[in-house]
Amino acid sequence: MSIPIDHAGRTALVTGAGAGIGREIARWLARAGAAVAVNDLRPDRAEAVVAEITDEGCTAIAVAADCRDETAVDAMVATVANRLGGLDIAVNNVGMLPPGRRPRPFVRYRYDDWHDIIDQNLMVAALCGRAEAELMVERGGGSILFVTSGEATRPSPYNAAYAAAKAAVNHLVTSMAVELGPAGVRVNAMAPGTTMTETVAAAFTQERMEAIVEATPLRRMVEHDELARLVVFLTSDLARCITGQFLLADAGAFLSRSRPANDEGLTSPIR
Ligand SMILES: NC(=O)c1ccc[n+]([C@@H]2O[C@H](COP(=O)([O-])OP(=O)(O)OC[C@H]3O[C@@H](n4cnc5c(N)ncnc54)[C@H](O)[C@@H]3O)[C@@H](O)[C@H]2O)c1
Repeated sequence: MSIPIDHAGRTALVTGAGAGIGREIARWLARAGAAVAVNDLRPDRAEAVVAEITDEGCTAIAVAADCRDETAVDAMVATVANRLGGLDIAVNNVGMLPPGRRPRPFVRYRYDDWHDIIDQNLMVAALCGRAEAELMVERGGGSILFVTSGEATRPSPYNAAYAAAKAAVNHLVTSMAVELGPAGVRVNAMAPGTTMTETVAAAFTQERMEAIVEATPLRRMVEHDELARLVVFLTSDLARCITGQFLLADAGAFLSRSRPANDEGLTSPIR
């Protein structure tokens, strides 16, 4: 007997889906049958992923927008509702350090660093989550999932602002789940461990990557498609009793001591 996960007839929005983890989530939700709206700050990236999805015979549209901009977010969600006929699944994947920001000792974080990192990780979650939740409540239910980080679950030296912002999203999930549950809206988070996206590849030295693998119980990093399949599951009816949770998908890294003793091994913005 097989147990299919079927998103046929559903509509989904994935933010920051023009590259990396979000791209893979959009592709797998489409493969599971959903009509997917692909968001990215960069229209060219969103269009390219839409082309990949439609080339596989699945359905997708591009909705370029900066998820830090409340007006743009509201317009994006309205566009998804109009063009796809509703919104059943929302995956809020935008995050990371914004351009120009990089890990640093705590005492060197200034107001602008905190502002930009919170904007890119917590405010995007609040703005997108609000617009999506309002529409889902009107329509009688849905599933919202935030992509947070393993960094939100443990001390994150030299990356304090990012880890604090992601931890705040994990907590936001619990409040949203309690408020929105009676309206049939589930709210969860998935917290990836280190995943070799282009952004991460550009940020870590080889030595740092090897140290992470060595300190991870499964002795490897997490693959994009492994995260995408988890999202397909968590947003499906197979997970319909799960809300207000975050699921750590990190090859066991949480259990080990893989933190850097200093900020060596980081060449540019990371997680
Ligand atoms: N890669 C990892 O190791 C890792 C680990 C833990 C958590 N995460 C989280 O996973 C998520 C995706 O990470 P990734 O490595 O795939 O990122 P990425 O940098 O590879 O891709 C992010 C995409 O989002 C787009 N984007 C950036 N800012 C945006 C904005 N304001 N509005 C709309 N689109 C925007 C970018 O153009 C890019 O296409 C992030 O939330 C990140 O914090 C990543």
